[in-house]
Amino acid sequence: MSLAGLAILVALVALAACGRDLPTAAVVPLGLPALPVPPDAPLQKARVDLGRTLFMDRRLSHNNTLSCAMCHVPEQGFTSNELGTAIGLEGQTIRRNSPTIFNVAYVEQLFHDGREFSLENQAWGPLLAGNEMANPSIGYVVEKIRTLPEYTGRFEAAFGGRGPDMMTIGLALAAYQRTVNSANSRFDRWRYGGEANALNAEEQAGFALFVGKAGCVACHPVGEKAALFSDNRFHNTGIGYANSMELPRRHRVQLAPGEFVVVEDKALDSFEKRQPDVGRYEVTLDPADSWAYRTPILRNVALTGPYMHDGSLATLEDVIEFYIRGGIDNPQKDPLLKPVGLAPGEKRSLAAFLRALTGDNVAQLAAEARAAAPGDALPAKDPASSYKRPY
Ligand code: HEC
Ligand code: HEC
Repeated sequence: MSLAGLAILVALVALAACGRDLPTAAVVPLGLPALPVPPDAPLQKARVDLGRTLFMDRRLSHNNTLSCAMCHVPEQGFTSNELGTAIGLEGQTIRRNSPTIFNVAYVEQLFHDGREFSLENQAWGPLLAGNEMANPSIGYVVEKIRTLPEYTGRFEAAFGGRGPDMMTIGLALAAYQRTVNSANSRFDRWRYGGEANALNAEEQAGFALFVGKAGCVACHPVGEKAALFSDNRFHNTGIGYANSMELPRRHRVQLAPGEFVVVEDKALDSFEKRQPDVGRYEVTLDPADSWAYRTPILRNVALTGPYMHDGSLATLEDVIEFYIRGGIDNPQKDPLLKPVGLAPGEKRSLAAFLRALTGDNVAQLAAEARAAAPGDALPAKDPASSYKRPY
């Protein structure tokens, strides 16, 4: 397992043996590989708790309204179930779907196009993006956190006397996110826990299709001892291509739980013109990477819709129909995607299997996040007006 030399595999047993105070959620549940933790970012409880508070804090946005958790909603699979593409500060649109935070420690290259490599650095993306949390600068965020009473002494306690700064804010958010791990699903108990009846016959048939005829396992791998359901690589399935070429696509849009309408792209464009998105090419500038996006981890996939980098597929049934057609044809489509004939019962089995990937601790992780939410008291002063250089 490679993490660009940044991270080493740290067995949690070893961490526990060092006497570090790990929160229960950081114990990797059945079915996940050993947790990759960078050697210089140990998972200490004080850091994790601080990161959880920051993740929930609306005051981390410029106008004090938008927290990380409002796009990565703990009760909605740490994503936004109602939004195909995210909405940032003051209703500004973002071109992509909010990915889940579940098991994000295992994502080797972050964002749909893999443009960031560490959770420590990643946090500054949304904090500074004009259409997300829209802070004017790094210093502005640091100064604001310094003025908030909830954080008094907490950074110093977590980081050996070091207060809030660009590094420690990133380290705290990263530490928390590395504990949002969810597995021990019924699938895991069946495959890795020796519980022969944890999956019913339909779900077992779905798994056989997933690793067999349907060809899913080629990009969503399942190991002998653990499964991530992602190869952590980038593939062109045709969705990005269809968007860029403005090929006519029909979307099933959920109006209310269980209520769908089918609309043409034209109708959606009348609300909002699509923003250009060439996927992985934007990072590597290699034309061969055009419209390739990272394979998502499929754990908890029943909870993390809508699906794909643009949120264009509303349900798992829609995703399965998409794959049966072999994705959307284009000159650079991944050769692993081919049309596959599945009978109606087989499609149901495959969907049933995907729904058996929900971890047993999802409610607990959401409740822990909510309990950490800080108060709404606004900062006493705008940091920009009160700031004085301390030297
Ligand atoms: C306005 C909504 C919004 C807010 C607020 C937001 N995010 Fe995100 N987040 C997104 C979207 C959309 C993406 C994907 C963007 C892309 O791929 O270009 C993303 C991607 C990520 C990823 C990468 C996950 C992966 O699988 O690659 C992480 C980690 C993350 N966000 C954490 C955070 C943290 C921490 C905060 C708060 C500091 C935050 N987000 C605030 C919408 C948001
Ligand atoms: C060629 C590699 C490849 C194959 C084969 C493949 N997938 Fe995927 N899968 C991907 C990629 C890449 C994405 C993300 C696409 C995007 O973001 O636009 C994805 C996305 C998904 C998603 C959406 C997850 C989310 O959080 O948005 C599901 C569900 C899924 N795949 C299930 C399957 C199933 C079921 C099969 C077999 C029928 C399959 N995949 C075959 C590469 C593949």
